[in-house]
Amino acid sequence: MAGSTSEKWQGGLLGWIDARFPLSSLWYDHLARYYAPKNFNFWYYFGSLALMILVMQIITGIWLTMNYKPDADLAFNSVEYIMRDVNWGWLMRYLHSTGASFFFIVVYLHMFRGLIYGSYRKPRELLWIFGMLIYLALMAEAFMGYLLPWGQMSYWGAQVIINLFGAIPWIGETLAIWVRGDFVVADATLNRFFAFHVIALPIVLLLLVVLHILALHEVGSNNPDGIEIKKNKNADGIPKDGIPFHPYYTVKDIVGVIVFLIFFSLVVFFAPEMGGYFLEYNNFVPADPLKTPEHIAPLWYFTPYYAILRAVPSIAGSAFPGVLAMFMSILVMFLLPWLDRSPVRSIRYRGNLYKTMLALFVISFVLLAWLGMEPPSPGKTLLSQICTITYFAFFLLMPIYTKLDKTKPLPDRLTP
Ligand code: HEM
Repeated sequence: MAGSTSEKWQGGLLGWIDARFPLSSLWYDHLARYYAPKNFNFWYYFGSLALMILVMQIITGIWLTMNYKPDADLAFNSVEYIMRDVNWGWLMRYLHSTGASFFFIVVYLHMFRGLIYGSYRKPRELLWIFGMLIYLALMAEAFMGYLLPWGQMSYWGAQVIINLFGAIPWIGETLAIWVRGDFVVADATLNRFFAFHVIALPIVLLLLVVLHILALHEVGSNNPDGIEIKKNKNADGIPKDGIPFHPYYTVKDIVGVIVFLIFFSLVVFFAPEMGGYFLEYNNFVPADPLKTPEHIAPLWYFTPYYAILRAVPSIAGSAFPGVLAMFMSILVMFLLPWLDRSPVRSIRYRGNLYKTMLALFVISFVLLAWLGMEPPSPGKTLLSQICTITYFAFFLLMPIYTKLDKTKPLPDRLTP
């Protein structure tokens, strides 16, 4: 606590600072004396990796902004200028565009860890909700960033998605015009998306990440066994199965960062477009409001939701049911802490029913991601519909199957 830790550091510069700012106590409370479960595994790398990518995106973004022009007449060429003429501009751009896709890979793995170990369960509901808000903000950030290069896919992708607002009954059309600032995606849209992408959303993201980590440190980390280490403390009040975050997990996380950077560099230097998955080929063509591309699809991290949108049939020519289903498919994740009624948290102690539902959910999510990239056909639409039903069944039937599931007895102490 603040008093006990700063007493140790009374002299010197640190003492001077500690008397005016809780530097040592922050260090102790959040690192050196933050006791984390000793059995963290592979799945626990992704929180710190997400944090690192966030910082990298902000830094590369600042450098890109130095030469980018948020103007419909200049934007495309300013990106080409960054790629060809600005010293190291190509690297800044590829780090940023590859970073966006890796951000989603890392966040999806981070969320999946939450699912398998039940990390969203009481008392970590708020931690989960902050995480979901981060996910929403991240999606908005990526969507708006994608308009900035002002290529064909930037333009038409934004056009399609903003037009979805138009499907909302009564207010839809007015809302879509309000969002665009014009009757079609235009210079006004580019300017406001730039403002949100560069200033507003990064601030929101940073704030949410601070809240996320504060909530985590208030309740303590969950772990692969899904049992509370705080229930088993020694005479000093330290959890018997806890180890100080620093140095043990700072060192472990550095290993994760190095391995991550190896994979990341391979993509940045050898395959930054990743076969059109990370940067679509059509986006190297300047935006042309008079020429709709034959096939419009969002980047891979949005395609599961795009597939859900297209799977739900229109009613009386209105795409509203699909739009609703798409938003619900994301919002339903907020409810996870209250949908899960199992007596255990971790997949290690759950029964086959939960494991089967989780496997079906993952398969349908991956299939939806693929289907969202493909041009529609009757067979693919049917498959999207089956996957959409499986997706929602995972969440909406959860109160039932988690209760029926045969769970295994929990250990008293952490297992390796
Ligand atoms: C910018 C994005 C994010 C950052 C920087 C971030 C950061 C972190 C960090 C550093 C941790 C602790 C280390 C770890 O457990 O891996 C953590 C834990 C956690 N995060 Fe995130 N997070 C992000 C997004 C999300 C999202 C989108 C969700 C879910 C919707 C989420 C849910 C959780 C949960 C449940 C935990 C606790 C896990 C446990 O103790 O087992 N986070 N996060």
